[in-house]
Amino acid sequence: MNKDIDIKKYFRPDLKEARKRTKKMIEQVDFDLATSYQHLGLHKTYLIQTYGCQGNEADSETMAGILELMGFTPAKSEEESDVIIINTCAIRENAENRVWGELGRLKAYKRENPDLILALAGCMPQEENVVQRVLKKYQHVDLVFGTHNIHKLPDYLQTAMFGKERVVEVFSKEGEIVENLPKTRQYKHKAWVNIMFGCDEFCTYCIVPYTRGKERSRSKEDILEEVKELVLSGYQEITLLGQNVNAYGKDRKDGYTFGDLLRDLDKTGIERIRFTTSHPHDLDTKTMEAMRDCAHVMPYFHLPVQSGSDAVLKRMNRHYTKASYLEKLKELKETVPGISVTTDIIVGFPGETETDFQETLALVEVADFEGAFTFVFSKREGTPAAKYEDLTSMDEKKERLYRLNEKINEGYLRGSKRFLNKTVSVLVDGVSKNDETVLAGYTEHQKLVNFKGDASLIGQLVKVKITEAKTWFLMGERVD
Ligand code: SAH
Ligand code: SF4
Ligand code: F3S
Repeated sequence: MNKDIDIKKYFRPDLKEARKRTKKMIEQVDFDLATSYQHLGLHKTYLIQTYGCQGNEADSETMAGILELMGFTPAKSEEESDVIIINTCAIRENAENRVWGELGRLKAYKRENPDLILALAGCMPQEENVVQRVLKKYQHVDLVFGTHNIHKLPDYLQTAMFGKERVVEVFSKEGEIVENLPKTRQYKHKAWVNIMFGCDEFCTYCIVPYTRGKERSRSKEDILEEVKELVLSGYQEITLLGQNVNAYGKDRKDGYTFGDLLRDLDKTGIERIRFTTSHPHDLDTKTMEAMRDCAHVMPYFHLPVQSGSDAVLKRMNRHYTKASYLEKLKELKETVPGISVTTDIIVGFPGETETDFQETLALVEVADFEGAFTFVFSKREGTPAAKYEDLTSMDEKKERLYRLNEKINEGYLRGSKRFLNKTVSVLVDGVSKNDETVLAGYTEHQKLVNFKGDASLIGQLVKVKITEAKTWFLMGERVD
């Protein structure tokens, strides 16, 4: 392979382009696998490693679906794989560092097995600096593609396998919404269902609007059809996916929004409906009322707040204040009594003072969150916050994270304790890692429960009486 690659000849990402938003309505096309590709994977195997969010996991299921349609089968180990795809996340530096480490490890491996096709996919290739680095320093990577062109995987593999040339194709902007994509789902009882793609919020710290393009919603007909098929195949639970599901439908401008979708999905016969993630600014009364009225929509809400300081929220471009967030939360808790609420918080955003941080702690106290994902701010090249002055030391930031987590853990325990001696409904996911006679699953309020039971119950809804409440999980006994 040519060492002095002219990177201009490749389709590569451009963050400035990715930032642009057009008013153009997004068209829809159907995926179709050309006959010439249908046997390309015969007697060959694949492996996909997923590093990102649920959206990335759903993309990996699509990649697996496409590969299996081409004749590939899942590999039992790395050693016997013909194709390895690394589906990456760009949200924080440590997510990326894990991938760079993995690519380094696979270099030695590729030397032993030169026929292996090694692909880098997902959000990292949407960043200019990543593609530059791969082209210069990771020449053992055969194929690089991004989030907007997964449906072109058959073309890319054909070129990489037979053309024996490196394929690098990343589009800065989204194309059409591609329907009819095959999926090999990880579970037989719970499924991801994309309802929208992209994000138009542009929180100043976040890379997602650049890696995932503009907000575009799938049609309600396509979503309902997918869910009805899942019901027919025996699925019990769906999780609706979008970076900001509360903005569902706004781009279609026909007045049909997230609350309407929840009501229609409630009638499909699916037992449990979940969704993630929500932006507080777009959460409306219509959605809360749909949650109240729909028996199959679970009483759980992940509502990222990010910070409790108005000054920080403003610099983050979050479009709400501490007071307006708490007001929405109050309405949500009044409309859906007993709902469990979790959140995301970033500490150490550039310019965050100790006083700002204290406001976050105070908000956590009153909001009564039952859990949270907490992060130290990570600088993402190309986002506005990467240029903000940041004088707080990493030690200080880590100390804030520690103090925050102490408080969050109190909320986890309070959330667990309210189910003590109660009988709850659990969707059984699998057997516990430590003990084969113990099953693990989630309650309606998204609490993890362990209880004794037989593996034949996996995928079923069972009643469990809670006998012990720990910080991270509940213990119980089956009662039905
Ligand atoms: N669309 C979702 C979030 C996707 S990213 C939402 O808005 O809720 C998940 C979480 O990662 C965010 O909520 C935020 O808390 C965190 N995050 C995003 N960018 C980050 C960064 N640059 N540094 C640290 N945490 C970040
Ligand atoms: Fe990122 Fe904000 Fe969009 Fe969430 S809403 S994906 S945090 S830009
Ligand atoms: Fe990561 Fe991309 Fe999801 S950056 S969080 S995999 S949208």
